Amino acid sequence: MLSYRHAFHAGNFADVFKHVLLVHLIRALQRKDKPFCVLDTHAGAGHYDLDSPPAQKNREFAGGIGRLWNQSRLSPELADYVERVQASNPDSRLLYYPGSPRIARALLRPGDRLMLTELHPTEHAALKAEFAGDRQVAVHHQDGYAALKALLPPPERRGLVLLDPAYELKDEFDRLIEAVQVIHRRWTGGVIALWYPILDRAPSLRWQRTLQKLAIPAILCAELGLYPYDAPLGLHGAGMILINPPWKLDETLGRLLPELLQRLRVGDHGQTRLEWLTPAP
Ligand SMILES: C[S@@+](CC[C@H](N)C(=O)[O-])C[C@H]1O[C@@H](n2cnc3c(N)ncnc32)[C@H](O)[C@@H]1O
Repeated sequence: MLSYRHAFHAGNFADVFKHVLLVHLIRALQRKDKPFCVLDTHAGAGHYDLDSPPAQKNREFAGGIGRLWNQSRLSPELADYVERVQASNPDSRLLYYPGSPRIARALLRPGDRLMLTELHPTEHAALKAEFAGDRQVAVHHQDGYAALKALLPPPERRGLVLLDPAYELKDEFDRLIEAVQVIHRRWTGGVIALWYPILDRAPSLRWQRTLQKLAIPAILCAELGLYPYDAPLGLHGAGMILINPPWKLDETLGRLLPELLQRLRVGDHGQTRLEWLTPAP
């Protein structure tokens, strides 16, 4: 099918939530000298022009990165993320938004690696062009789920898999359960970050109960909801499942989620959730 184009949504509140976490997870990997590897299974185009017709259609970025841009007194984690976006906008006007590949690439040290898989031909071509000649980045025109078996475990044995599908397929939640099992079997110590939209609440809660039954320890669930969950259909919030999260991430998120809510909220609505679905060993 592949009709989803991230350009319509780049920089919206759900991207902010996801990319703040991505920066923080990679910062945690940088704490040790040993090389690490990041696999971004649904990479998108790499970066986005916010003046383009898709981005301008609903101007979703205005309610996301637009709310943090030029803000003072951000916590160090939010400031770190905003600096990543500023790096794509050197003249200080918000014109471009970096996707997960560009954000991850900027945080690699010389010995670290980034692997990207993307199925959409146009998005893949953009990624290929962006990282042409970059020896630390491998771009694959491949199904991100199928690539797991070929690419994992990485020789570095340290790192992160980001799963950020478009949720166009009816069985996406089932595919993700299977993907988590494959990753965990092949690379037990790898960090997994799995983004999901909160649209209709019931299916995402059912799916979390299935995750809890997988006998995988250390599954943390973080959610940011901007709209009431019983409102008519739409993107009410976003969540991230984190497997093997870095030490004390729960404490950091206990502080960051309310800050994100306060800075991004629309009216009086909004909620956050932080819960261990399975305990850390
Ligand atoms: C939500 S977007 C990714 C956004 C990107 N991760 C970011 O944060 O900037 C999802 C992407 O997955 C791609 N896609 C959909 N199904 C895929 C699959 N099975 N394997 C790899 N990519 C896929 C879509 O074309 C789309 O570009």
